[in-house]
Amino acid sequence: MLTLTVVMCFFSLSHGQYNTLRIPDTIAGTVFNLNVRDTFHQFLPGNQTITGGINTDFWGPTLFMRKGDTVHMNVHSYLNDSTTMHWHGMHLPAVMDGGPHQIIPPGTVWQPYWLVTNQASTLWYHPHLHMTTEEQIAKGIGGFIIIRDSEEATLPIPRTYGVDDVPLVLTSRRFDASNDFVIGTDPYGDTMIVNGTLHPQFTFPKQFIRLRILNAELERDYNLGFSDNRTFYLIGNDGGLLNAPVALTRLKMVPGERNEILVNLSGDAIGSSLDLRAYNAGMEFGFGGSEPGTTAPFGSLLNNRNFDILHIVVGAATSSAITTLPSSLISNTYYTAADATVSRTLLVTDGNPGGAPFRFDSRSYVESYINYNVGLGATEKWTVINNNVFGHSFHIHDIQFKMISRSSGGLASYEQGWKDTYYLKVNDTVTFVTRFTDYADASHPFMYHCHIAPHEDAGMMGQFVVTDRTAVTDPEVKAPEYNVYPNPAQNLLYAFPKDPTVKAYYATITALNGRTVMMLPRPEMLKGIDISNIAPGTYMLNITDDASRLISRISFIKQ
Ligand code: C2O
Ligand code: CU
Ligand code: CU
Repeated sequence: MLTLTVVMCFFSLSHGQYNTLRIPDTIAGTVFNLNVRDTFHQFLPGNQTITGGINTDFWGPTLFMRKGDTVHMNVHSYLNDSTTMHWHGMHLPAVMDGGPHQIIPPGTVWQPYWLVTNQASTLWYHPHLHMTTEEQIAKGIGGFIIIRDSEEATLPIPRTYGVDDVPLVLTSRRFDASNDFVIGTDPYGDTMIVNGTLHPQFTFPKQFIRLRILNAELERDYNLGFSDNRTFYLIGNDGGLLNAPVALTRLKMVPGERNEILVNLSGDAIGSSLDLRAYNAGMEFGFGGSEPGTTAPFGSLLNNRNFDILHIVVGAATSSAITTLPSSLISNTYYTAADATVSRTLLVTDGNPGGAPFRFDSRSYVESYINYNVGLGATEKWTVINNNVFGHSFHIHDIQFKMISRSSGGLASYEQGWKDTYYLKVNDTVTFVTRFTDYADASHPFMYHCHIAPHEDAGMMGQFVVTDRTAVTDPEVKAPEYNVYPNPAQNLLYAFPKDPTVKAYYATITALNGRTVMMLPRPEMLKGIDISNIAPGTYMLNITDDASRLISRISFIKQ
């Protein structure tokens, strides 16, 4: 009885009982160790919920990166299934991107690394294995990435993480009778969860606060506002800060999108409160979660109504409080339609009951088919047309784009800035312009897709390679030879090509039974491969050559 009482006061949702909003832990620096696991989290009284987590039991740490740093990721998967880890919004080589091609088998370490060239912004990371994305995101595998740079650092805006600069990840879920998530049959949750917290509240200082909001839903869209309808200010979205704050009272967000807003609490009394709320009642059809009804497949207790997201309590101001709104932020130079030399048109097709699922141009995603070959450095105009039965969330990897037009009534004021994801409404045509700089790689594609997880899993996804058309290739006839030492090795294994001009495209370490234990895209051979974590035994080092894509195989012994 005692236990039950204690549990009840922790979790009771009635009459203003709130739980303190969880603030994700942080990792900063240039080396990020991410341990992805199947785990449990206590969301409700009674049974724990089966979840997935990174270094914790639901959702993962916030990764702080600095523009100009080279970051090294150690993604160690302890999951029972294969996975991938994608760095949503990041400009990086396709082979590091963590799309459906970069499969991390159970027990394997994947070690991508890249130079951070994105400007200060809020990105996120999540699994992206074809047909498994919905399940793995639903279980809570993902996290924020916050990029800082010197320009953002000089602006008078809040940036104390967990105090006046707070990330909010929106993930509604439905629980079954044993408290597990209902996954795969219904993309809309009945229970709002923010940062892994049910019915959350947080005390913010009496000053301007910054909320970094991520819609990490499987399908639900949000129409955000505050319970007193106060004006708030958009300062950044997917790709970073805007030129100047944009005043808003409502802000729509589809799955995958991020928005940074400033909210002025400096005129609020200490102890007073307000709510960040989803004003989702009466939204147009095609807006995820506007469907009527409360049950599967597309109903939910939260559908087509307004509901609270976060109870905000006003506390004392901090010593370095921001109390004025900056009139300008950074100066972005956006691409214009006139810059584009290539135009592409994508049509949303299918999705009718009994027919093929939603897809682009009547073609479902298949790994072996490259939809587009983009020239390195090309500026392109992409037009995505949806004359179809439902709305979508369009996302593209590799780049940030500038939205140019929306046929269904023009761009919203919050759609300025660099974007990588947007709401594609019913009867809508959206055009954006982007440039495909850096990272040409003819054998490894980037993705574009609908970010509604069940849609992408069902094939509403395509891929493109970026190729350097001026490059001269001189393919080798046979795979290059390597010297591996020391052999046996304990901690660091070095592999040097006999021909020093040879470059490695990819390396894997496989056990003799074929199991992959490490994956190293574009391995940094001079640094040595850290094999300290693998079990003693005999292994193969498989190195794919950059020029010929032929594979050299060398065996070594781990002591
Ligand atoms: Cu957030 Cu292709 O994904
Ligand atoms: Cu992405
Ligand atoms: Cu879709």
